[in-house]
Amino acid sequence: MDNQEINSNKTEPTVGEMVADDYRKAEEFKRFGIDQLEITCNKKGIDLAAVKQALEELDGQQPPASQDYQNWDIDILSEYITEIHHKYVNDALPLLDEFSTKVARVHGVSNPEVIEIARLFQVVANELRMHMDKEETILFPYIRQMVLAKRHSELLPPSPFGSIKNPINMMEMKHKSAGGNLQAISELSNGFCPPEHACNTYRVLFAKLQEFENDLHQHNHLENNILFPKAINLEAELLS
Ligand SMILES: [Fe+2]
Ligand SMILES: [Fe+2]
Repeated sequence: MDNQEINSNKTEPTVGEMVADDYRKAEEFKRFGIDQLEITCNKKGIDLAAVKQALEELDGQQPPASQDYQNWDIDILSEYITEIHHKYVNDALPLLDEFSTKVARVHGVSNPEVIEIARLFQVVANELRMHMDKEETILFPYIRQMVLAKRHSELLPPSPFGSIKNPINMMEMKHKSAGGNLQAISELSNGFCPPEHACNTYRVLFAKLQEFENDLHQHNHLENNILFPKAINLEAELLS
């Protein structure tokens, strides 16, 4: 979920602020297919009250400690994202690459949408590889440096990119791009639903693409709604 909600009325929390407290809320928003509560509910004719009620029902439930990302130190969270989500992407890409190419070659004539799915997947894969490399080599190490500086009561460490808001803005743009391409793949694949005549490779491809999209959704949520806002706050704290 992106962290770029429009929120002119500050009495209502943004979706980003609401879901940051509980990842299950992000899942709930996703189930309704929305990113921004008021605007999108209106646009899609979704019952806003029903969405809010679903969120309130979640409020009474305590998330398991393993999902309580909001209370994790951000150096730990950045390592978790690398170990769980970046590793997942790196492990998933080769098979998705092979299967999307194969399905496009074999089924592209009868189902031309699989050619576009393979093309969009290549765009996502190339962008994600570069994006995760930048996070792992530049942004996340700097976040860990800031955490250490705070622990040792030191000043803000120097950075090659000026304010941390600069790389974060770039990362959020890439999240939006990857999310948009996955959304397009979801629509082209009829919600990752293979046609009846689909062979096993075709079915596995769609199932893995759906899994990939789910993982990316949580990955982007942890960065956009928890890690990045906390890193920006920490930078401000170390500067003051
Ligand atoms: Fe990431
Ligand atoms: Fe990212």
